[in-house]
Amino acid sequence: MGTVTMNTPSSIDFQDPQDTVTCASPRLQIRNVNLQFNTPGGGSFTALGDVSLDVPDQQFAVIVGPSGCGKSSLLYLTAGLNEPTGGEIRVGGARITSPGADRGMVFQGYTLFPWLTVRQNIEFGLKRRNMPAAQRREVVDHYLAEVNLLGFADNFPKQLSGGMMQRVAIARALANDPQILLMDEPFGALDSQTRHQMQRLLLRVWEHSKKTVVFVTHDIDEAILLGDRVFVMGAKPGRIRKVLDIPLERPRHVGVEMEPEFIALKREILDLLHDEIGDEPDNE
Ligand SMILES: Nc1ncnc2c1ncn2[C@@H]1O[C@H](COP(=O)(O)OP(=O)(O)O)[C@@H](O)[C@H]1O
Ligand SMILES: [Mg+2]
Repeated sequence: MGTVTMNTPSSIDFQDPQDTVTCASPRLQIRNVNLQFNTPGGGSFTALGDVSLDVPDQQFAVIVGPSGCGKSSLLYLTAGLNEPTGGEIRVGGARITSPGADRGMVFQGYTLFPWLTVRQNIEFGLKRRNMPAAQRREVVDHYLAEVNLLGFADNFPKQLSGGMMQRVAIARALANDPQILLMDEPFGALDSQTRHQMQRLLLRVWEHSKKTVVFVTHDIDEAILLGDRVFVMGAKPGRIRKVLDIPLERPRHVGVEMEPEFIALKREILDLLHDEIGDEPDNE
């Protein structure tokens, strides 16, 4: 298990014990998930067709695929923001039926509360769980330091850059000590230099926290750089086309993108995605 112990809130008291299996099972289990949407003509559209995947504890899993293949839909289902038409999703053995604090989320749009300071944003969930003020301060300071924002605790979101706001969002998600961190193209709106900095920062923070992560992106380099395992999705219907383990050693160093192993993986994923986007414009 992890070598770093942090004085963070103890986890997880919201599972139904009847519905919980113990530690050997994967942290996230997605089983035969289908998702259909009704179409205006009275028909239905299959956004996800029979998707199954497992993410073991402490794995950094990445889902990569073309726009419209159902990546966000799959993450939304895992977050409990929507229900599958068929199949089931379990986190820590408990079947997902609604949103919960056991799943931390970082999405592309800036989701901070604009009327709260950085510190108040990060401690929001801790306060709701009645964590004492001194402990809250300790947890928030820890994560502010992790994302290099100790000097910005009293700023409001509108005083921050996009990259800084996403760092606050990451700190907020981790401060709640979730079972799993769900990230949907969190760096998609950032310029490429900031995006690279954020990827490095996320890698470092993840090395410390070793949270189970599901990270969605359409950027192949980002997928390989970050992931232990990459699920390549295809569209129509959304499905897993290939699962690739990323054997690059950790911590991942600067310049890893130039290594032959990295380039070979990139070629493999590019070829898969190229088949996907070959003949039709996507439907967005
Ligand atoms: N609420 C909805 N109603 C109808 N279709 C939807 C809805 N949400 C998503 N879709 C469709 O489902 C497919 C998958 O969408 P999404 O999960 O957002 O893809 P991705 O995140 O991979 O770009 C797309 O074709 C999209 O248009
Ligand atoms: Mg999406």
